[in-house]
Amino acid sequence: MNKRKLSCDPIVIMFTNNKGGCGKSSECIELAYILGQKYKVLAIDMDPQCNLSLYSDVDLEEHKNVKHVLDVDFDSIDECIQRTPSYDVIAGNRELVNASKLYPDSDEEYILQELVSELDYDFILLDSAPAQSLLSIIEYTASDYVIGVTECDDGSLLGIRNIKEDIKTITKRRNKKLKYLGVILNKYENTNINKLAMDQLDELAEEIGCRPFNTKIRKSSKSSEAKLMRQSVSEYDKRNNIAIDNAELAKEVLKRIKVDGRM
Ligand SMILES: Nc1ncnc2c1ncn2[C@@H]1O[C@H](COP(=O)(O)OP(=O)(O)OP(=O)(O)O)[C@@H](O)[C@H]1O
Ligand SMILES: [Mg+2]
Repeated sequence: MNKRKLSCDPIVIMFTNNKGGCGKSSECIELAYILGQKYKVLAIDMDPQCNLSLYSDVDLEEHKNVKHVLDVDFDSIDECIQRTPSYDVIAGNRELVNASKLYPDSDEEYILQELVSELDYDFILLDSAPAQSLLSIIEYTASDYVIGVTECDDGSLLGIRNIKEDIKTITKRRNKKLKYLGVILNKYENTNINKLAMDQLDELAEEIGCRPFNTKIRKSSKSSEAKLMRQSVSEYDKRNNIAIDNAELAKEVLKRIKVDGRM
């Protein structure tokens, strides 16, 4: 079945925060799964930890992966793409931990940008490592939108502010169209500290020039359970709060992209 719906170039969305463990990979696979029900979606694992690949249950040993993509070591890009029931994946590669040594030439920053426009997908979602590196520059350069993912702690809220600075730098030279689409508050619980984090995010909104999404993703132990089963929560247990919240979030994401005129 050809799921391709949109008549535009692929819409590329990067999930990021330089703080580790706030839920970037989790949110990337939830949205890949949900959007993949209706649209043609590719998730690219840009993190040398390769968690998105693990969570998506794709091959990390034999199959060509994101390093082959960056090395342009393929005859057809299809050789690097693996299928899951809802979305396709380009798996990560642990060797990319040395990306700046592997790709010392500044032209390399544009490799992904050149490639994604040629791919036949509605959405391309990029999962990022929790660090500033050449890989994040490659991602920012290739993306239309950035989604910040945070949980309710100082470190990840600071990361949300830092993204704005990164976007400012990237839009100056490499990628003028890049926009901050929104911020996901993840692992939400109905506690005072979480309410405080929400207030801080609202205050940050003006400074970073983008509103947090209204939908918060609630905390649930099903997140770890689903990962053990190598599935998104949306696939593993669609009645769980994480699945319910992400279904709402996906609608908000689409609405913001529509309002922006990209689809
Ligand atoms: N809504 C949630 N409720 C409970 N646990 C969650 C939720 N979202 C993510 N987690 C858990 O938090 C941990 C970190 O999640 P994840 O790997 O998605 O974060 P990350 O930001 O991608 O981390 P890294 O920075 O290392 O790449 C995982 O164990 C995951 O199951
Ligand atoms: Mg991750």
